[in-house]
Amino acid sequence: MMAIRSSFVASIVLSCLVATCYGVTFSSLQRTLVVTASPQQGQVLKGGEDTITLTWSLNTTFPTGTDSTYHTVKFMLCYAPFSQKDRAWRRTEDNLEKDKTCQHKIVTMPYASSNNNFTWTVQKDVPTATYFVRGYVLNSHDEEVAYGQTTDSNKVNNLFQIESISGRHVSLDIASVCFSAFSVVSLFGFFFLEKRKAQASAAK
Ligand SMILES: *[C@@H]1O[C@H](CO)[C@@H](O)[C@H](O)[C@H]1NC(C)=O
Ligand SMILES: *[C@@H]1O[C@H](CO)[C@@H](O)[C@H](O)[C@H]1NC(C)=O
Repeated sequence: MMAIRSSFVASIVLSCLVATCYGVTFSSLQRTLVVTASPQQGQVLKGGEDTITLTWSLNTTFPTGTDSTYHTVKFMLCYAPFSQKDRAWRRTEDNLEKDKTCQHKIVTMPYASSNNNFTWTVQKDVPTATYFVRGYVLNSHDEEVAYGQTTDSNKVNNLFQIESISGRHVSLDIASVCFSAFSVVSLFGFFFLEKRKAQASAAK
């Protein structure tokens, strides 16, 4: 009885370790996708205006059947190390549930081994930073099973920058808030002056 119970507990703990409870680790994923993105090394893209075209395929050096469990591919914008420095909220963790490297979803597409492309307009809410693109291959249970990315494993080559235009919006918003505050103040100022004038003429 004890033995059955402890092996039951052990199997739960084990299945937790393997997958769902602690999440899939990045280091356990094979890099089987070849992913390219249109931006040149160092190019600066503007949010809300510029586009990124992705092309991707299975790396044909892997044996046939490698992709038999592949179901979808989820592409993300990921922070380059330079833009992660001193920012714990963008940190890289091997456990993908805790990893904050890739925070902006580009698209999820059904998996196909070749002839894949997608063009995305950089969204306005993407913060100004240096990025690369990573595609996670998911199985039919939405678990990561492989990946591909536009940069090398040290994340040095083929990085590009995105310049957010939300900065511009913020200053416009501040300007309009200041302007309305100014009108309210001048309105009260006007009443105050009129009252003073009325009092002054009443005192005469
Ligand atoms: C395909 O995979 C092999 C083995 O991992 C690797 O050496 C090669 O660079 C990859 N090819 C491309 C185009 O990424
Ligand atoms: C781009 O994707 C379309 C399907 O969305 C496909 O028909 C076409 O062949 C692809 N082109 C390339 C160059 O991969």
